[in-house]
Amino acid sequence: MLRYLKRLQNKDLALDHSMISLGSCTMKLNATSEMIPVTWAEFGDMHPFAPIDQAQGYLEMIASLTEYLKTVTGFDAICMQPNSGAQGEYAGLVAIRRYHANRNEAHRNICLIPKSAHGTNPATAQMCNMQVVVVDCDDNGNVDVADLKAKAEQHAANLACLMITYPSTHGVFEEAVKDICAIVHQHGGQVYMDGANLNAQVGLTSPGFIGADVSHMNLHKTFAIPHGGGGPGMGPIGLKAHLAPFMANHAVQAIPGPHQGQGAVSAAPYGSASILPISWMYITLLGGEGVKRATEMAILNANYVANQLKAHYPVLYVGSKGRVAHECILDIRPIKAATGIAEIDIAKRLMDYGFHAPTMSASRWPARSWSSRPNRNPRPNSTASFQPWFRSARRSARSRTAPGRPMPTRSRTPHIPRPTSPLPTGTAPTAARKPSSRCRMCATTSSGRA
Ligand SMILES: Cc1ncc(COP(=O)(O)O)c(C=O)c1O
Repeated sequence: MLRYLKRLQNKDLALDHSMISLGSCTMKLNATSEMIPVTWAEFGDMHPFAPIDQAQGYLEMIASLTEYLKTVTGFDAICMQPNSGAQGEYAGLVAIRRYHANRNEAHRNICLIPKSAHGTNPATAQMCNMQVVVVDCDDNGNVDVADLKAKAEQHAANLACLMITYPSTHGVFEEAVKDICAIVHQHGGQVYMDGANLNAQVGLTSPGFIGADVSHMNLHKTFAIPHGGGGPGMGPIGLKAHLAPFMANHAVQAIPGPHQGQGAVSAAPYGSASILPISWMYITLLGGEGVKRATEMAILNANYVANQLKAHYPVLYVGSKGRVAHECILDIRPIKAATGIAEIDIAKRLMDYGFHAPTMSASRWPARSWSSRPNRNPRPNSTASFQPWFRSARRSARSRTAPGRPMPTRSRTPHIPRPTSPLPTGTAPTAARKPSSRCRMCATTSSGRA
């Protein structure tokens, strides 16, 4: 049984074998010491509504993590209740609504959102009964400041907030971000910073310093909680002092800080508290200098990938100095136009080489583009080892269209089988597919024999 289970395990692609270039959005290669405490009964077996006098250790750990997060974000208060980034957005916008209502400005319901935003931003605004006004982006992927200014002025009387992601989902540090915050404040709005990409800020700057009023932190991205396949997560929000009274509380177990009677945003007072030890361990082990270095490495790795690949895959957006932030978006459209080979073909080819494919789609990103963010990689050289294979996948595509060359009927790249679409007639999956070293390792041949 043990050998059988080990064989199954070997067939899987995991971070102990390979880089997973989805980066912050997926599983991180964590130190075992960061993960062990979640297995302890003292954390794992505690009921969320255990009497407070029996949960003193938990509260101490939460208080300590709260202080860490305040330092990292530059905020005055932290609400530990939201279970995800999206729920953090909800908690943040609810706090903004309550703040406006408290000032007799409940009519403020316009939420400005740049085109580059993640889909959860407009969805959250809708859930909070706000009206979304979309702000344009310029050709470099930045918020179009003139458009923002015009829309903030136009909606000044009813402006509730702006939701802005920094660095943006286009993978660039918006250079005008402080001016953008100032424009919104000038017109009576609050700034919600989507902190999903906080891993490119930690130790170098902070949402509070930049001018945000409230922001979520995806602890399951920036602070080590593994979250493959949609969970589990923690998306606490940080708030400036003027919003702190309006953060979520809990009717069953009151939280000190926010006004009593504020509704909850999740079932338990401190969300999925049982996974907080992972983030606490991560920050405690790395310390201030260590978390800053992790940020620097994330930015360095993303720029390394962008530079190594730009001759083969154009990088869609860069800042004014030609650099990206925490990730880069590779433009597959020219390859598709010239060869008919799409991002999914290249993704499958990379999988044959034993690498997980990068993120291939995200709302608002131009079609046929590819996001790659190798943020916190297992080893520095795993980013490097990824590059030749990426370039080789590009060469496979290019070879299809070399001048004078007949269109190959057995070219590997487009014939790699996909479960959801029919295979080209007469092409057995095995004819095109070269087994990867991982497949060979686990004794599975291309004929499917195990
Ligand atoms: C920019 C951005 N905002 C918000 C979210 C939502 O976070 P979560 O998946 O934790 O709800 C994500 C997640 O990928 C994101 O990338």
